[in-house]
Amino acid sequence: MQSVLILGRQPVLGLAELESLYGAAAVRSVSSHAAVVDVDPCLLAFDRLGGAVKFCKLLTTLDTIQWKKIETFLIQNTPEHSKMMPEGKMTLGLSAIGLDVNIRQMEATGLSIKKGVRKTGRPVRLVPNKELELGTAQVLHNKLTGPNGWELVFIRDGQQTIVAQTVKIQAIESYTRRDRERPKRDTKVGMLPPKLAQIIINLAAGPVPEAQLSSICDIPAGQPIPKKILGKTVLDPFCGTGVVLQEAHLMGYDVYGTDLEPRMVDYSAANMEWLDPALKARLEQGDATHHTWQPPIDLVACETYLGRPFTSRPDPEILAQTVQDCNLIIKKFLKNIHGQLAAGARLCIALPAWQTHPHAFKHLPLLDSLEDIGYNRISFEHARDEQLIYYREGQIVGRQLIVITRR
Ligand SMILES: C[S@@+](CC[C@H](N)C(=O)[O-])C[C@H]1O[C@@H](n2cnc3c(N)ncnc32)[C@H](O)[C@@H]1O
Repeated sequence: MQSVLILGRQPVLGLAELESLYGAAAVRSVSSHAAVVDVDPCLLAFDRLGGAVKFCKLLTTLDTIQWKKIETFLIQNTPEHSKMMPEGKMTLGLSAIGLDVNIRQMEATGLSIKKGVRKTGRPVRLVPNKELELGTAQVLHNKLTGPNGWELVFIRDGQQTIVAQTVKIQAIESYTRRDRERPKRDTKVGMLPPKLAQIIINLAAGPVPEAQLSSICDIPAGQPIPKKILGKTVLDPFCGTGVVLQEAHLMGYDVYGTDLEPRMVDYSAANMEWLDPALKARLEQGDATHHTWQPPIDLVACETYLGRPFTSRPDPEILAQTVQDCNLIIKKFLKNIHGQLAAGARLCIALPAWQTHPHAFKHLPLLDSLEDIGYNRISFEHARDEQLIYYREGQIVGRQLIVITRR
């Protein structure tokens, strides 16, 4: 059984996340931003993935990459498919990834399919393509994953084309609510997007046993995942306003957060209370460079101190000082927590990396001495270490994700 995922803005982050959860051999990168995963679709806990935007069912693979032939396939098959749908108007959407086709050709294809479906007596509407790929908002608003909707995604895979049907899209409204409606936010500590927090947690978690995935999949969407299924505690020692804690709680982990600033601990407490009034989150003030945490700690997922929030390229001396300050704090933190973790414990840490030229970054020097302080760095087959940086065009401070284990 295979699942097809359409990945987000930085596909490589989504590939690393999938590799972390399901293993490198189960993941195949396809075209610019899709992945075929050898995991039963019902075990693929899509709502817990931060790096994928669409979850699709693989329908078939065509031995062609020519749009004309793909169109012939569609004209032959769509009317048949429409007969299996409940009565009422069918809404059809088309997306193409990596194929040599333009919007006009796609529209023409859509019109031909409409004609064929109408002949069966069923009314049909085509969602107009603004781009070759329909966005998740279009899929949502046009109910393309509903009983009378059908979004087909065509993905070039070498000299073949994967035909997949979108089954689920990322819960845009829920992410926005979790991001924007929290009572306590602070632009100074940066706004970690919930999706990136999910990626960080999944990278810290590593492979999740199949039995646990299957128990999670049985829980209806939107209902809390009982903590006993995973039975693990996530620590965020730089918890700030609590985005990592919030997402980890929703993903079924026990959560534990500490921060140097008492105000931040209060913010996390207020945000967790807003998220789930029944939750008594474990939160305390603590300087990560010398704090003693209470066991158990099974995994560490955090965004550390990122230094000054630059909006323009800083002077070299100021940048050098900032790099040195961050390096000192984070290195001390890693040394401090080392003795408090079990051998093999896994951490995913978002560190600052500074964009000095377009797509070129200055990294923390400590990355070269991780082994000396007692950690092994985990590398991924589907993502190079230096690609695991979350950033937006023109942003100076990016977040570099590293995954390490305590030796
Ligand atoms: C980039 S923010 C993390 C934001 C967080 N991910 C959130 O959801 O809001 C870094 C946090 O590290 C905290 N911090 C800085 N130095 C620290 C230290 N030595 N020990 C613990 N926390 C520290 C800051 O107070 C800040 O809240």
